[in-house]
Amino acid sequence: MDPLRIDVPTPSRRYEIVIGDGILEQLAPLLDAAGAPKRRFVVSSPTVWKLHGDRFTEALTAEPILVPDGERYKQLSTVSRVYEALIRANADRASTLITFGGGVIGDLAGFAAASYLRGIALVHVPTTLLAQVDSAIGGKVGVNHTLGKNLIGAFHQPHAVVVDPAVLATLPRREFRAGLYEVVKYGMTSSPGLFERIARESSAIFARQPDVLTAIIAESCRIKGGVVAADERESGLRRILNFGHTAGHAIEAITKYRRFRHGEAVAFGMLVAADVAVARGALSGRDRQALADLITSLGPLPPIGDITTGQMLEVMYRDKKVIEGKLHFVLATTIGATAIVDDVTRKELKASLKRVGFKA
Ligand SMILES: NC(=O)c1ccc[n+]([C@@H]2O[C@H](COP(=O)([O-])OP(=O)(O)OC[C@H]3O[C@@H](n4cnc5c(N)ncnc54)[C@H](O)[C@@H]3O)[C@@H](O)[C@H]2O)c1
Ligand SMILES: [Zn+2]
Repeated sequence: MDPLRIDVPTPSRRYEIVIGDGILEQLAPLLDAAGAPKRRFVVSSPTVWKLHGDRFTEALTAEPILVPDGERYKQLSTVSRVYEALIRANADRASTLITFGGGVIGDLAGFAAASYLRGIALVHVPTTLLAQVDSAIGGKVGVNHTLGKNLIGAFHQPHAVVVDPAVLATLPRREFRAGLYEVVKYGMTSSPGLFERIARESSAIFARQPDVLTAIIAESCRIKGGVVAADERESGLRRILNFGHTAGHAIEAITKYRRFRHGEAVAFGMLVAADVAVARGALSGRDRQALADLITSLGPLPPIGDITTGQMLEVMYRDKKVIEGKLHFVLATTIGATAIVDDVTRKELKASLKRVGFKA
């Protein structure tokens, strides 16, 4: 089957997301076609390289730079290790940095590419579902600071994003599910067809059948690509992608990024956003139930019963999404559509948080 190609025409660069089962084999010609300079470096993690490094090196000659990939390594000292390897190898402006890993590798190595020599070419080859549908697209790169997540970063669009669903075969089930909640998010914000497909084909999805995975990944990439092309720097439309993220980020922060995978926290966040919408009459109870049923069907989530509504409100109002004291909140209005509002009151939020299961 021919690979699927999704055009991402952002103002700063136009590039393609190329998706296909086994497409990793065609990496070299794909990079040539994308105009990625010939001196090529790949940043990966020992975990990913051990599982898929052979397939990578069969496809492309590149000098591997391996760095650890837990969230705690997404920091400047790891970026510095990448710089060091690039400097030692005399990487120049005519070099391409390829990221081969999950969102952590993509973000941190992408930031190295954005800043080394004031920016060299970047290609993402994402290996987690989350990275394939989300973090590899849109040009946001960066690292955490000890005082907060994703505080240091840049916009640096890649020359290409190459997505091979076959690499997901080795992804731990929990990581896979965590990525799937972001796919549910795209369904909820932008695509009733995608939403229904996840519900209808969940067993084929969990069996990681290439054709079904390719279809849901491609639809997600189309949505994210379309949104970032229209709003590269997140001034308006791109905010719809934050559906479920206001409460989701708060859950992650309160539990110190240990208990929840990001997508799992977003799953609860979507339930909160849907509840607020139902209480305002913006969303039907039936659509909210369809969302809750789909989330439940995808498997268990970590508990939230010990997190208080007070803690949640405090953290949510500290968020970047608070502009002039007003919390910008993405509500679902039906499956496949959203509205951004800035007049959700603390009282409303508290009531929704309680109904979703947070501690009064
Ligand atoms: N830049 C963006 O726009 C954006 C968007 C969303 C998330 N993010 C960032 O992405 C990060 C999370 O990314 P993630 O969920 O991919 O986590 P991750 O990169 O930590 O990967 C999760 C785990 O999966 C392992 N792994 C990766 N690929 C594998 C494979 N094919 N088989 C087996 N194991 C594999 C990794 O070694 C790691 O242990 C966060 O830091 C988040 O801030 C960025
Ligand atoms: Zn997310």
